Amino acid sequence: MIRPFRGAAFIERVGNDGFEGSRAAAEVAARSLRARLRGVWRRRNKPGPLAHQSRVTPPVVVASPLLAESGPRPIALDGGVCYPQAQRMGPQRNSGSIDAIAPAKPIIEVVDVHREYRMGGQMVAALRGVSFRVMPGEFVAIVGKSGSGKTTLMNLLGCLDRPTRGVYRLGGNDVQGLSDDALSGLRNRHIGFVFQSFQLLERSTALKNVALPLVYRGEPSVRRRTLAVEALGRVGLAHRVGHRPNQMSGGERQRVAIARALVGSPTLLLADEPTGNLDSATERETMALFYELHAAGNTIVLVTHEPSIAQQCPRAIRLADGCVVSDGPGREVGVS
Ligand SMILES: Nc1ncnc2c1ncn2[C@@H]1O[C@H](COP(=O)(O)OP(=O)(O)OP(=O)(O)O)[C@@H](O)[C@H]1O
Ligand SMILES: [Mg+2]
Repeated sequence: MIRPFRGAAFIERVGNDGFEGSRAAAEVAARSLRARLRGVWRRRNKPGPLAHQSRVTPPVVVASPLLAESGPRPIALDGGVCYPQAQRMGPQRNSGSIDAIAPAKPIIEVVDVHREYRMGGQMVAALRGVSFRVMPGEFVAIVGKSGSGKTTLMNLLGCLDRPTRGVYRLGGNDVQGLSDDALSGLRNRHIGFVFQSFQLLERSTALKNVALPLVYRGEPSVRRRTLAVEALGRVGLAHRVGHRPNQMSGGERQRVAIARALVGSPTLLLADEPTGNLDSATERETMALFYELHAAGNTIVLVTHEPSIAQQCPRAIRLADGCVVSDGPGREVGVS
């Protein structure tokens, strides 16, 4: 069972690392906002003949100034910022339950990004002027034929690589100007990556694999263990903490990799063909886990070859020859 993060839990995630602003101010704002929202929620959910028509889920509280300046408008109360559930859940889930929707700052902002590789004397243009934004709480599929630039794009989004030219802002930070150390710090703190080939350490237990990103973060060992056990529990592997990858099924390995991506509570979850090495039943299980993570409020960008997967995502971006050729609801994504 995945615990939704809301209010204080989100602040716990983003408010204490210099990336998102003052923790104390955020907590005060969130306490006040939560109290007010509880009142609104109770009023709207009073039992009565029409209660089901006006029911709303209490909105998520985001206390991040970085995430609050542009895009869909948040409701600002006492310095805190409230994003309605509808916006958090992405473009297809607009329940229209809250009237004023104010702009949020995108988590991802890609502007006219190019990536060229030099191969001998030739230049290979893998990305040719890609632009898009991803807002907090969105679930976006990236689709396209082999060689269209999907992995190149994911490597840029994950700060594993930099654009040849163009701008990539992650949570408002322009990655171009950052040193390698700053970039890996940003990546470690804010990005969880899931790869097609799992990329687990074969000789280490599930627990050690999952705890690894926390080592780079300098977390003490007791906390690493606690968080890793918790993350494995979230993906249904509490009973496999002592198993090594070669003692687990493909689906379990991928769930370990997802737990590793989640363990640091990243701002953004990136997955490059996470079901590419799985059979169809395990693929369904793994995708169900991603949908659950999305419903819990995570922002996810996922590369897939499978039109059936993209069609179930709220939004799909199609790449062809290094360019974005369509960007819209997943259900509208074509097969080719
Ligand atoms: N390191 C590299 N050096 C040279 N060319 C590269 C490099 N990496 C990728 N390319 C080229 O860039 C283009 C895009 O590659 P990319 O791996 O992003 O495609 P993809 O959409 O992920 O494909 P697939 O679906 O097969 O994984 C391809 O033409 C590829 O040959
Ligand atoms: Mg690829």
